[in-house]
Amino acid sequence: MKLTSIQAAENKLLLQTYERNPYLFISGQGVYLRDENGQDYLDLLSGIGVSALGYGHPAVEEAITRQSNRLLHTSNLFFHEGTAELALRLTEISGLDRVFLCNSGTEAWEAALKLARAHAGLLRSSGRKIGTKFLALEHGFHGRSMGSVATTHKAKYREPFEPVMPGVEFVRFNDVDDLRAKFSEDICAICIEPVQGEGGIHPISREFFAAARELCDSSGALLLADEIQCGFGRTGKWFAYQHYDILPDVTTIAKPIANGIPMGAMLCTNAAAEAITPGMHGTTFGGGPLACAVAIAVIDTIKHDNLLEHIREVGQYFHEELSKLAARHDCIVDVRGLGLMLGIELNSADLAKRVATDLMERHIIINRTSETVLRFLPPFILERKHVETAITALDEVISAAYVGAAPAGEQSHG
Ligand SMILES: Cc1ncc(COP(=O)(O)O)c(C=O)c1O
Repeated sequence: MKLTSIQAAENKLLLQTYERNPYLFISGQGVYLRDENGQDYLDLLSGIGVSALGYGHPAVEEAITRQSNRLLHTSNLFFHEGTAELALRLTEISGLDRVFLCNSGTEAWEAALKLARAHAGLLRSSGRKIGTKFLALEHGFHGRSMGSVATTHKAKYREPFEPVMPGVEFVRFNDVDDLRAKFSEDICAICIEPVQGEGGIHPISREFFAAARELCDSSGALLLADEIQCGFGRTGKWFAYQHYDILPDVTTIAKPIANGIPMGAMLCTNAAAEAITPGMHGTTFGGGPLACAVAIAVIDTIKHDNLLEHIREVGQYFHEELSKLAARHDCIVDVRGLGLMLGIELNSADLAKRVATDLMERHIIINRTSETVLRFLPPFILERKHVETAITALDEVISAAYVGAAPAGEQSHG
């Protein structure tokens, strides 16, 4: 089917959850996606932070082929070869003790919320005073299922589905006084994204992260770090919290773990894990042999190819080039981010929309989030030459678009 017939069929047949861009990709290689007409696109979004090793990576292809020839599924009622090997790697890179494997970001975050409730229940049963409420951050995003959406700040994600899980209060981003004022023995967990993604690429401040850790230590509440977008190497360290030298009690990852094969994971301390016993939580597909085999290959490739160092180096170059661009264009009001998780904030939503659309027409894929922010989440294998191509195109597109920006609606994203 061609793009136009697919569009017509999807309009009729699919639940209308996304306003897709009118492009049909059929293959990919390295940092490029190829459309139905054989045109290549430089991908600076990697499927919203998923295709970390790009497209057609030999290690990923080898793992998929090998494992799909052996075994795809056993259920979590039995052992298979991949789970322990992957859990060993995840605990080594995170500094946490135990792993729950699942299929998506929101499922990992639901597991974190449930663990926090169960852990507080365990503390209560031993006489500690601790409640069931959560503190989450303004502009935070944790997913679309009922618990995740309850801890997600933007009203548009929550309100159509109310009542969502009760007992969530939002704290002003990076406002330590507000955090201290709202924290009490009613709180079972503080929810943070060390670098907010969907909220517009905002790193949390050291003071705020440290205060959250200190408050949780004082009461037994858990510090939950959602690293679904910022974790697993994206910022140039395995976990964004490692930039702060703070260990959360729980972290969640998903997007890039298995380079496009769906997978999520919740990692936690032994102390938190004591709250979960067999039968309390589970998943049919989570941690299946295929996803585990690919995730192992992804971690081993990131290590073998020194990709964390590469991300830091290319990310810094990208950041510097974006800052130079900002010095030339006063419509760029801020440049933010860590590693290859970068954003530039423009002075209008109309302009941001126009720039994202014009870049697509020039075969460069980015995304707009929080109305005014252009978000870059490229594959980890991005090179300086790709950054140069992107900067040249951005420069030209912004110069042309700033004169007359068209009205904008809001784009769907994750
Ligand atoms: C920080 C964060 N948490 C949770 C999610 C939800 O992940 P998923 O879409 O895999 O359910 C996302 C998705 O964008 C995210 O960025």
